[in-house]
Amino acid sequence: MTTLLKVSNLNKHFGGLHAVKNVAFTITRGEVVGILGPNGAGKTTLYNLLTGFIPPDAGAQIEFEGQSLMGVAPHRIAGLGISRTFQLCRPFVGMTVLENVIVGGLGSARTSGPGLADRAEALLKQVGLVGKEETPVESLSYGDQRRLEIARALAAKPALLLLDEPFAGLGSGEIADLSELIRSVHATEGLTVMLIEHKLREFMRLVDRVIALDFGEVIAEGTPENIVKEPSVIEAYIGRGDPVGEAAGHAA
Ligand SMILES: Nc1ncnc2c1ncn2[C@@H]1O[C@H](COP(=O)(O)OP(=O)(O)OP(=O)(O)O)[C@@H](O)[C@H]1O
Ligand SMILES: [Mg+2]
Repeated sequence: MTTLLKVSNLNKHFGGLHAVKNVAFTITRGEVVGILGPNGAGKTTLYNLLTGFIPPDAGAQIEFEGQSLMGVAPHRIAGLGISRTFQLCRPFVGMTVLENVIVGGLGSARTSGPGLADRAEALLKQVGLVGKEETPVESLSYGDQRRLEIARALAAKPALLLLDEPFAGLGSGEIADLSELIRSVHATEGLTVMLIEHKLREFMRLVDRVIALDFGEVIAEGTPENIVKEPSVIEAYIGRGDPVGEAAGHAA
């Protein structure tokens, strides 16, 4: 098992708010790792730091495949093999579904120009958007936009896929379908996946390991079965009325 991502001493202040606090973890190639934490815990900020969207405070180390990402621009980090989806879908408007996926693959050192359209079509098939290649993205249903986000992120042939609440706003049938899709891309593409999700039942079924954050700090790490028994995690969720009970019920 090789280390894919190694993070240490990661901090981010927004003015007086210490949004990410002394975070350190490693991700092994091939894992599906869940990032758990109540609203405002710093989960999306962590992704923004990993993908170079915002710079960390001084002193941080982020190493991906043994290479430091400090000071590397977001598009170059994507090109090195880290793709993400956004908590709110961000399609390229004014383009078709197929064009969105092709653009997702442009500029990646891991893809080559001539194969992009073929790969994009194959990805649309994989995510269940066949027949919608020429549809303008604006007219996709919300569930289809979520699928497109994943196809677009995969177009760059990432080694690491960061998913930020992919189930938000979806019904239970759509969540089950998207879970299957995440499982299948993990299996067939040999992808390492990090998943932020509040829909805990599906989250706990998908992940191998959980890193729990609260107020920007890692408060616990462990298997889904063990994490929901951690007093600090129960306190972070139940103490504030969030639904970790659902997950505890599932793991029990
Ligand atoms: N660009 C920013 N400027 C100022 N404060 C920010 C910024 N981004 C995030 N924050 C603050 O940092 C904290 C962590 O936010 P973040 O979005 O990372 O939380 P989260 O864990 O993703 O929450 P949620 O589950 O609601 O998406 C919050 O208090 C948020 O208001
Ligand atoms: Mg968030």
